[in-house]
Amino acid sequence: MSELKKNLDARYYTEPHIYALERQHIFDASWQPVAPVSFFKEKGDYLTLDIAGTKIFVIRDDSGDLRAFRNLCRHRGAVLLSEGQGRCRSIRCPYHNWVYGLDGVLTRAPWFEEKEKLNLDDWPLYALAIEIWRGLVFVCIKKSTNLTTQLGDLLAEVRDDQIEEFQWVERRRLVFDANWKIYTDNFVEGYHIPGIHPDFFKAIDFDQFETTASDNLVRMSAPTRGDLFYKGRWLWMWPNWTMSFFEGGMNTSRINPISENKTELVYDFYFTDVSSANSPGREEIIANNIAVIEQDFDICLTTHQNYLSGGYEPGPLSPRHEKGVHSFQTSVKDAIGEVSF
Ligand code: FES
Ligand SMILES: [Fe+2]
Repeated sequence: MSELKKNLDARYYTEPHIYALERQHIFDASWQPVAPVSFFKEKGDYLTLDIAGTKIFVIRDDSGDLRAFRNLCRHRGAVLLSEGQGRCRSIRCPYHNWVYGLDGVLTRAPWFEEKEKLNLDDWPLYALAIEIWRGLVFVCIKKSTNLTTQLGDLLAEVRDDQIEEFQWVERRRLVFDANWKIYTDNFVEGYHIPGIHPDFFKAIDFDQFETTASDNLVRMSAPTRGDLFYKGRWLWMWPNWTMSFFEGGMNTSRINPISENKTELVYDFYFTDVSSANSPGREEIIANNIAVIEQDFDICLTTHQNYLSGGYEPGPLSPRHEKGVHSFQTSVKDAIGEVSF
């Protein structure tokens, strides 16, 4: 009989040097979902975002192409575009007014003097890899793999889902004080549903809850009873994003660490019926989704505190329910390599 798998060493969740390795080997090296392509309708439409502490922006350039850059001025490193969405004709640094085109080329450096010594072409913005998959924009800070390779088994999993017919309706950002992997461990198992989500538990056939972990994908499903708003299929993709289906739509989320002890979730909600008549129905679905998500925060936060206490020794994982947890943790360990504490 094979041994039970064990949970990860608590120090993986609490040590700043582990977080530094994760930034380098996981968040810089993977494709990260940004937003639906509909965020960038016109030339100059942009969105800023944070990827585990790296500030970037995506913008539609003058020829209509989408581009991604570090949100960082080549002069003395200031942030170029303030947080959020907007539209601009050029990118002007607020610090000393250097100006970049939408293609990232430096076009002006006012009041610099001795301009013959400054070749503007030498100082373009740092460009990042960008791709679109089924209407969703992805960026990669240091490309080491193709997007489709990373998406792995998700490609087949959602082949027949009409993702492109969903229209983006709303973005919600939620922040909580726990390591991003504690939240992920929680997301990739249904084992906690009876304890943490009693109403959700009543609405599914928990005995038939199934979890599979395959190539960069954890898939969870359960038959639903009655009128549960979820469709009974929840997907998590390496390294940090999710997709869940509900009646008439779906949500996606990105689990983004802010530090080793703080995490933000960026949720996008999509629907097929975006009529104003259906607005109350959509609001209710969003509120129900958010309520279930928030039910997990407290347990993540207090678990994080226990991991910090030094009193936790890795416990055994349920072979049936925590396959996704083991698979995720193995991928993290493989990505960051040998560590010492
Ligand atoms: S840092 Fe941007 S112009 Fe100086
Ligand atoms: Fe949960």
